[in-house]
Amino acid sequence: MRYKLKKINNTYQLGKRYLNDFFHTDAYNKNVIEKGKTPSRTDVINYLVSKFNREVHYLEIGVRYPDHNFNKINAKFKYSVDPGVENKANPVKFKLTSDEFFSELKSNKILITNNKFDIIFIDGLHQANQVERDILNSLEFLSEDGFIIVHDCNPPTESHARETYEYVLSPSGGSWNGTTWKAFYKFRKSTTFFSCCIDSDWGIGIISKKIKLGEPTKINNPFFEFQIFDKNRVKSLNLISFENFMRILEINTKS
Ligand SMILES: C[S@@+](CC[C@H](N)C(=O)[O-])C[C@H]1O[C@@H](n2cnc3c(N)ncnc32)[C@H](O)[C@@H]1O
Repeated sequence: MRYKLKKINNTYQLGKRYLNDFFHTDAYNKNVIEKGKTPSRTDVINYLVSKFNREVHYLEIGVRYPDHNFNKINAKFKYSVDPGVENKANPVKFKLTSDEFFSELKSNKILITNNKFDIIFIDGLHQANQVERDILNSLEFLSEDGFIIVHDCNPPTESHARETYEYVLSPSGGSWNGTTWKAFYKFRKSTTFFSCCIDSDWGIGIISKKIKLGEPTKINNPFFEFQIFDKNRVKSLNLISFENFMRILEINTKS
C-alpha cells in the first residue's frame, strides 16, 4: 500500500514537472497562437486561384481528408496525390507517393494531354529531403506564371520541427511541422526563383518563377540549426503578412 502511494506521488510529481516545464508551456502557448492565425492555407490558395485569367490546374500532394482543404479549392481542374499513410480510405485520384507520381508524369504514363499545373500545394511527407524533391519536381511541371505553395514552413518551436512525428509526448504534442523549413530555407537562397512565407497556418511558403516575391535570404545557416533559424526566421523565410503578400502581388502583376 505504501509502495503504491509512493508510485502515485512520483507520477503526480513527474506530471507537475511536465506541466510547468518551460518547453512544454511555450509550445502549448505557441500552438494556441498559431491555430488562431488567419487566413488559412485554403483561403490563400483560393486567393491565388482567383488571380488567373484562365481555368486553373491545381495539384495537391498529400491530401489526407479532402474536406479539410482539397474539396474547398475553387479550381476547375484538380488532381490529388496521396499514398494513404494517414487515411486508409484515401479518396484521391493518384494513390501514389509524390516520387511515384512525378516518375509516372516524367515517363508520360499519366496526364498525357496536359501535365502542367498552375498551383501545386506541397503538403505530403514533412521531411526536408522529401520536400526538396517535391519542390524540384514541381518546378518542372509548373506553368511559367504558376505558384508552388509549401505548407508547414514556419515551425514555432524546435519540438514542432522534430524529425519524427511519432514523438507525440514532446512539448508540441500532435502538432508537427517536421523539417519542411529546411527545404524551404534552401530555396530561399536561390537566385533563380522568388519566394516568401505568409505568417499564418504554420507558415505558407510561396515560390514563383516569375513574380518578384522578395530577395534571396542572406542568413547563413549552413548546418540548418533550429536556434539560428529561430533568431532569424523573418529573414530566413521572408516571413510576411497576408496583406503584405497581396500588395506585393498586385504591384508585380500590373501590366
Ligand atoms: C498533413 S496531411 C495533408 C493535409 C492536407 N493537405 C490538408 O491541407 O488538409 C499529409 C498527407 O501526406 C501524405 N503523405 C505521406 N507521405 C507521402 C508521400 N511520400 N507522398 C505524398 N503524400 C504523402 C499522408 O498520407 C497524409 O495524408
